[in-house]
Amino acid sequence: MTILVTGGAGYIGSHTCLELLRAGHDVAVVDNLSNSSEAALRRIRELAGRDLLFHRADLRDADALERIFRDDSIDAVIHFAALKAVGESVEKPLLYWDNNLTGSLVLLAAMTRHRVKTLVFSSSCTVYGDPASVPIREDFPVSAVNPYGMTKLVTERLLQDVYRADPGWAISVLRYFNPVGADPSGRIGEAPSGVPSNLVPYLTQVALGKRPSLAVYGNDYPTRDGTGVRDYIHVTDLALGHLSALEELRRGPRLVTYNLGTGTGYSVLEMIHAFERVVGHPIPYQFAPRRPGDIAEAWADPAKAFEQLGWKTTRGLAEMCADAWRWQTMNPEGYG
Ligand code: NAD
Ligand code: WQD
Repeated sequence: MTILVTGGAGYIGSHTCLELLRAGHDVAVVDNLSNSSEAALRRIRELAGRDLLFHRADLRDADALERIFRDDSIDAVIHFAALKAVGESVEKPLLYWDNNLTGSLVLLAAMTRHRVKTLVFSSSCTVYGDPASVPIREDFPVSAVNPYGMTKLVTERLLQDVYRADPGWAISVLRYFNPVGADPSGRIGEAPSGVPSNLVPYLTQVALGKRPSLAVYGNDYPTRDGTGVRDYIHVTDLALGHLSALEELRRGPRLVTYNLGTGTGYSVLEMIHAFERVVGHPIPYQFAPRRPGDIAEAWADPAKAFEQLGWKTTRGLAEMCADAWRWQTMNPEGYG
């Protein structure tokens, strides 16, 4: 099978491309490199010992997509390409709506024209908003509190409409919890540009001495130690979830939604201490006010993915931290 991976040079996309190649699939990547580097693709080829096709193009460029679908005999698409910074989406809603929604619309139109009707879509646990309880099941109510989350919610809705109009589609909507870690080779990983906004990349930069201290946003949440609790999932487990989802879609048309998480939540302080055990020295931190828009706790009920896909995570917290740390120390400047 040839899989078109949109956003394949990015963090989750690069790990998924590697696992696809390792599993024997052919891979074509389309990415505009707005938040990634072509070096990731070179390293994937080295690690897999196989080639992949790369098209540097923006998803909103309908002519470029038309050429890709005409030339590459695509069987299925995994659609990662999106902008994902929550804070930036509040400042630049037009950019987020255009990039994430227009990109998806142009992609779906090209797929429709070329009768490629198998799609795995990157959604997010952000669509659950502030859940009434944890663990979170797929049938919980959805909502969005920022433009980024709204683009995910609306794209999910768009996919429902596409499927309703043509039940020949096979669509898997994957709601990721908090991806962390890196391939154990240390050759590919998360390379945020500028100041990281997510916990783990910030933590690894503090541990390396690139930043003086971590601000822990809030120690007065109703959680076991007062800090926010999240479901951190190793990016390789997450990548493998995409292969399981694709495999299921081969059984026939459907529209399905899965949580991809571990089912276990860890607090910010627990994450700091887990990293301290890996790096071997204390990591400086101080408590700061709650970050606007944050919730107290979110973790997945991953039972549906286990029961229907046979997928579950196998990499624990120590491995997530060790792999994130190896990537950070081997690549202190990311791909730069
Ligand atoms: P990333 O920024 O590392 O990867 C996204 C890739 O898409 C980048 O390589 C970027 O250059 C590319 N891209 C963006 N807009 C594009 C466009 N218009 N045309 C072509 N390429 C474009 O992000 P990631 O963490 O790998 O996230 C991948 C997907 O997973 C995104 O859809 C994101 O919303 C979703 N997601 C991420 C997280 C997370 O915490 N990382 C959690 C839940 C969901
Ligand atoms: C985790 C915990 C923070 C940074 C985000 C998006 C979500 C999804 C996953 C895309 C929280 C705390 C963080 C710091 C801290 N992405 N924290 N100091 O907010 O759970 O989810 O990524 O779909 O949509 O919102 O992840 O890593 O930013 O935060 O104390 O410097 O760490 O308050 O409790 P979050 P995160």
